This record gives sequence, C-alpha cells and structure tokens, in this order.
Amino acid sequence: MTDSVFSRGCAWVNGEFVPIDQAAVPITDTGFTRSDVTYDVVSVWNGKFFRLDAHLDRFERNWNLMRMQPMLSRDEIRDVLHTCVAKSGLRDAYVEMIMTRGVPVGGSRDTRTFQNRFYAFAIPYVWIANPAMQAEGIDVAVATQVHRIPSTSVDPTVKNFQWGDLVRGLFEAYDRDAYTAILLDADGNVTEGPGFNVFAYCEGILLTPQSGILQGITRATILELAQSQGIACAIQQFDLSRLASADEIFLTSTAGGVMPISKLDGTMIGDGAPGPITLQLRELYWQAHDRADWSLAVNYTSDKLEFIT
Ligand SMILES: Cc1ncc(COP(=O)(O)O)c(C=O)c1O
Repeated sequence: MTDSVFSRGCAWVNGEFVPIDQAAVPITDTGFTRSDVTYDVVSVWNGKFFRLDAHLDRFERNWNLMRMQPMLSRDEIRDVLHTCVAKSGLRDAYVEMIMTRGVPVGGSRDTRTFQNRFYAFAIPYVWIANPAMQAEGIDVAVATQVHRIPSTSVDPTVKNFQWGDLVRGLFEAYDRDAYTAILLDADGNVTEGPGFNVFAYCEGILLTPQSGILQGITRATILELAQSQGIACAIQQFDLSRLASADEIFLTSTAGGVMPISKLDGTMIGDGAPGPITLQLRELYWQAHDRADWSLAVNYTSDKLEFIT
C-alpha cells in the first residue's frame, strides 16, 4: 500500500487521502480562524502505534467537551489514522488527529449549526529535543513575562491550539538563550511548557503538577512505570523554588518521550548531566513501546478503508 507520493507524509482532508504537501484546510474553517478546535497526537514507533486507545479516549472526551459531533465514528477515525501511516510507509511517525468546529454556513455565527470537520495526518516522528540534545540535557527558562492561561479561561485538559502563552514563553526562552520554556500559573505553581509536561525528582520523590496542565499520556505512562519500579511519586502543585532545588528535572511528550533538563534559568541541575532516575525512566519508556497491551502494529499492506467509497 505504501506509495512514494506519500513518503513525506499522508493527510486525510475533506474525505480523502492526500500527500502531506498538498493537504489544505478551508481558510474559513473556525479551527483556523478561531482556534475552535481540539486535537491529539499519537506516535508510531518501529511500525507500532503507542497507546492509541489512550489517545483516542482523550480525543473523544475532548470533542464531547467541545460539543462537537464527528462525521466519522471512533473506529473510522482509528482506520483513517492507520491508513495515513500505512500509506506513508513511515515506521516512526507523528500522527495528528484534529476536530474543528468547521466552516460557518451562510455567514452564520451560531456555532451549533456548523458541520464539524475531522482532519488527520502522519508525518515523520517529531522530536521536541532530539536524541543528541537529550544526551546532553536541555536548557530551560522559566518564563517571567507570561503565565499559563488560567484553567477557568481555557481548559488545558482539552488539547487545544491556544498556544499564545506557550509561544510567548518560548520567545522569552530564546531571548535568554534557553531552548524552551516552562510556565508558571498566576499563583507561582509550575505548570507545563510548549508541548510537554514537567517532572522534578526532589529528595527521593518524583513530582509532577496536578492541575493547570494537559494530562499527558506520556506523563501517565511515566507515572505508571515509576510506580512499577517502586519510585515514590506525588501529583501535586509545587513552585519554582522546589523545581530549582530538584536533583533531576525532565519533560515528557509524545514528541520526544522523556527529555532530560541540564540547566534551569542558567543554573545546572544536579551535576548538569541527565540524572539516573531520568535515564532509567527514559529507558523503560522506550522499552514499553513493545508491550502488547500498549502497542498496535500498523499493517502496511492492508487496505482497511472499506467504509470510504
Ligand atoms: C501543552 C501540552 N502539555 C503536555 C503535552 C504532552 O502530552 P502527551 O504526553 O500526551 O503528548 C502536550 C503535547 O502536545 C502539550 O501540548
């Protein structure tokens, strides 16, 4: 089924598969004009989806919270994702599913009348920090000029495109010669950053914020793996001073896995090299991609989409 025109990626747009370079969104789609959208990203590693059901569960929860109604069933969405990967032939892929409010009909601003749209694409796997950077550990700045948007304004558990605060944090990090940013909330609690959750290993306890964040699938995976190793974990709010005094800090995301931090605001974390707990969990994370209950092999030869004719 693999077709070379799809080798840079394959998208599902307007009910058909197109090469990624030709995929286009209608310019009046409110997913684009209003950020009226939810999305999810699942990875394929070594030819296998990782935790696809967990991603679909989160996506389904979120389109329901957004009061959207997809044109495809959940099983059909799964098939589209599968086929995007199969057509691309990519063994390691970044697979995004997007549900938008859709295009206003006849100039109406009544969001209840819009026909919601589903898009998807598979492209080569994306690393927020690539393996070479991970080996060194990355420099992070804690943003001082922007807070994470309050959960009462934008629910961070509904994966969204409202990245204004995260992008401002990113530019602040660049101005301070850091690679990426961690944002605090208005009360000074650590939240998350552009595309990742945050973990701090402090005095024998692995901490990760409880609220004001996307409940990352990688975060949940790491908590489960840490607990299986007898590492004490606490899901709770903590502030910058706790983060700065951590023995180890790492970031988690579908796009990059477990990413060690070597410097926070210009100061070394630990001895400035990825710490032992971080490395242990990163190793377990990649091993877990072969677990039967968490992986689903892509069938690169199948023609699964009988429902689309
Ligand atoms: C804001 C934010 N936080 C956390 C994450 C990590 O979530 P996951 O582990 O499910 O990829 C993401 C992923 O894109 C994100 O956008």
